[in-house]
Amino acid sequence: MCGIVGYVGGKQASKILLEGLSKLEYRGYDSAGIAVRNDDGNINIVRTKGKLKNLIEKTNNGEDLEGSCGIGHTRWATHGEPSEKNAHPHYSEKDSVVVVHNGIIENYAEIKEKLIEKGYKFYSQTDTEVVANLIDYYYKEIENDPLDAIKKFMLRVRGSYAIAVMYKDCPNEIYAVRKDSPMIIGIADGETFIASDVPAMLKYTRDVYYIDNMELAKITAGKAEFFNSDEEVIEKELVHITMDETAAEKNGFEHFMMKEIHEQPEAIKKTINSIVEDGKINLEKVGIDAEKIKNYNQIFIVGCGSAYHVGVTLKYVFESIAKIPVQVDFASEFRYRSPLLTEKTLVILISQSGETADTLAALKEAKKHNVDTLSIVNVVGSSIARASEYVLYTLAGPEIAVATTKAYSAQLVAGYLLAVQFAKERDVIDDKEYKNLIEEINAIPEKVDEVVNTQEDIKHLASMFSNVDDVFMIGRGIDYAISLEGSLKMKEVSYVHTEAYAAGELKHGTISLIEDGTLVIGLLTQKSLIEKTLSNMQETKSRGARLLAVATNGIGAAKSCDYVINIPKINPYFSASVAVIPLQIMSYYMSVLRGLDVDKPRNLAKSVTVE
Ligand code: G6P
Repeated sequence: MCGIVGYVGGKQASKILLEGLSKLEYRGYDSAGIAVRNDDGNINIVRTKGKLKNLIEKTNNGEDLEGSCGIGHTRWATHGEPSEKNAHPHYSEKDSVVVVHNGIIENYAEIKEKLIEKGYKFYSQTDTEVVANLIDYYYKEIENDPLDAIKKFMLRVRGSYAIAVMYKDCPNEIYAVRKDSPMIIGIADGETFIASDVPAMLKYTRDVYYIDNMELAKITAGKAEFFNSDEEVIEKELVHITMDETAAEKNGFEHFMMKEIHEQPEAIKKTINSIVEDGKINLEKVGIDAEKIKNYNQIFIVGCGSAYHVGVTLKYVFESIAKIPVQVDFASEFRYRSPLLTEKTLVILISQSGETADTLAALKEAKKHNVDTLSIVNVVGSSIARASEYVLYTLAGPEIAVATTKAYSAQLVAGYLLAVQFAKERDVIDDKEYKNLIEEINAIPEKVDEVVNTQEDIKHLASMFSNVDDVFMIGRGIDYAISLEGSLKMKEVSYVHTEAYAAGELKHGTISLIEDGTLVIGLLTQKSLIEKTLSNMQETKSRGARLLAVATNGIGAAKSCDYVINIPKINPYFSASVAVIPLQIMSYYMSVLRGLDVDKPRNLAKSVTVE
């Protein structure tokens, strides 16, 4: 988590750093800071609590900080509350070393004690201040070799980090190192950029180097040199990024979340078109072949948050269409439960960012067992994509709002297509069914578009329910999987307490929470299951609940529910793609009506690069 930036070149660094941070705020936004070296050789540091706009104000939009070499940071707190004192950049006692850090130093407490014994004093509660002082300690101990000091630091610490370091003694130089946290270096004419993610530098360059684990970089104006942990020089290839920069603008929408809700039909269509050619699924780009697909006898799907919910949906889809057993795990749990991975296992990792630390750790665990790994990832070149054997890219484009919408939708269709191809290669379906299923998937964007563009009723419902205290979302089968995502969306952006429940399970305890006025949203897209779900909804109505149904057109829910949102008819296997849309829209409007920060909800971050 956290976003880091750096700049060395001929321009005023502070402005470029602030611009870069504004593109990385999705990685954390509880405090921010920048450090810039001025012509006298002093490193000036400015930090603020709260969102980046506070730092912009405090520095007079960067005007107050002279100098053309600097680093910056936007924080999502791990060690130490969000405060100015705990904000980065952090510095060693005499400002000789200034650092920004993304990640966690696990053994920081023990190192801190040792440094205190050696006379170091600390002003913050962060693990990053330990980084600054430890590097300072090694730098002095080994006669001022900046690279060697960082190398010694790498050997001494445990945990994950992407770190940019400025030494007071080294004008116009920044040193960078990473382990399990992302970092890229961009090069333009006479300028060099550092960032956690590409959008932070797209305005200035599209030519970047990816630093790999345990590699160091020395950055000067227009130049980057790379070293392995033995300090041997490494040659790296410059990668040209083709991402569309305007994707990170709001284009007339009030919030990114609503813009991205509207971009869903396109994101889904592009993802489908990237692997469906002439009515057939072509996984050549993914790299997995028919023999492999035939050989697997079980699949594990692993992800976090919404990506996990895609996994829950895909379990139903894979098992129904392709008849292969699927287990779904939270990435943070997967490696702690000794999953039984065999040579016939495929592990599918799902991640928008491709950087989620829990998912990356699960991927590494799978690789340790020598099983095949396939990732469904949105960000090209991200750590998870690069470490997986096979990659299926979703083409949702950059997603800025913290609560995912279009990436989730693109992941779903990527998964459906995989399931259909598995069914075909394993001879579970015939050509006719194969063709039908692909046609049904091809029709999803149009149906999603229909819901996205008829928002008035949903907006009205949001205004009716924006002050509720509790919402329960219930369903059976795929409808349960949809409830999970709908409930998370509402929690994330509207701060209303919501719970998703398997409809039949509600009566085994949770029904005691139903009171007069509690909102129960029932998902009704699975024809064979709706009668049972409707009965469970009625059980809550008898105890005072108000009932809202999200139901496939013509499925017959209207009579017994207080309110109904109808969605277009769709093959039940793929209903999550359409039924989730009204829940996203309702969550959005509830958040707006409650006066909340829709795109940057409290305590969250889009890309969580700590375990
Ligand atoms: C964070 C975000 C969630 C997201 C999850 C997984 O917790 O707030 O919205 O679903 O990470 O992210 P990923 O990038 O791996 O899909």
